[in-house]
Amino acid sequence: MEAIIETHGLTRRFGDLTAVDHLDLSVAQGEIFGLVGPDGAGKTTTLRMLCGLMAPSAGSARVAGHDVAREPQAVKDQIGYMAQRFGLYGDLTVEENMNFYADLFGIMGAERRRLAEDLLKMTRLEPFRARQAGRLSGGMKQKLALMCTLLHRPRILFLDEPTNGVDPVSRRDFWTILYQLLKDGITIFMTTAYLDEAERCNRVGLMHKGKLIRCETPEAMKEGTEAANLESAFIKTIYEVEGALRT
Ligand SMILES: Nc1ncnc2c1ncn2[C@@H]1O[C@H](COP(=O)(O)OP(=O)(O)O)[C@@H](O)[C@H]1O
Ligand SMILES: [Mg+2]
Repeated sequence: MEAIIETHGLTRRFGDLTAVDHLDLSVAQGEIFGLVGPDGAGKTTTLRMLCGLMAPSAGSARVAGHDVAREPQAVKDQIGYMAQRFGLYGDLTVEENMNFYADLFGIMGAERRRLAEDLLKMTRLEPFRARQAGRLSGGMKQKLALMCTLLHRPRILFLDEPTNGVDPVSRRDFWTILYQLLKDGITIFMTTAYLDEAERCNRVGLMHKGKLIRCETPEAMKEGTEAANLESAFIKTIYEVEGALRT
């Protein structure tokens, strides 16, 4: 399979802090890849660089055939990015929020109407189109944010902890939509704090203090660490790395 995301020594420093430290990774087209790791591991910074929103300090990344540092706009045209705190307008309705993002992406007329209808149907937000975004439940807000991200039909979807704080039923709904998108051929790169979600990814990368310390299928990660579940596999791996740092 051809790699649609590829990084070589991708690095980002903030002063003395190396937030992302020589990341080498490759994601195949159509894959769902999960980046996990403790707070401050460097997940969001990685995502921002891959989306062409933040310049690397060193190394390189190619996303959908474009270099993120040299051609950030070409990258942005092909991807959708749902930030940890996605900008919805609470006093605008579901439909008005969608129109705002459609304007931003330059999607007009019949195409806009068709896309909006398809997305409203897929996310089952149709009955709520006239409700103010500020009055939606957490799960519905996330679905609306996802919908706005999908309006310009990206090839790759970057999701930063998309289901954080969302109730279990809405999380399951959200995953039903993600599977639908995968079936349509979209590649998904996400960060998550939920290990049941990491388990559903084709491959998982474990980040710790800016470094990718493991990257493989959830099954291989459990077998390699002889752990009963993904959570113990992660914790074991992090302790091993910490131990190696101390000695
Ligand atoms: N704009 C910034 N300026 C300075 N430090 C930053 C900035 N963004 C992130 N950091 C630092 O980089 C590290 C990685 O942060 P982040 O990528 O947000 O991690 P994660 O998403 O895994 O929680 C943290 O120590 C954070 O404080
Ligand atoms: Mg983060």
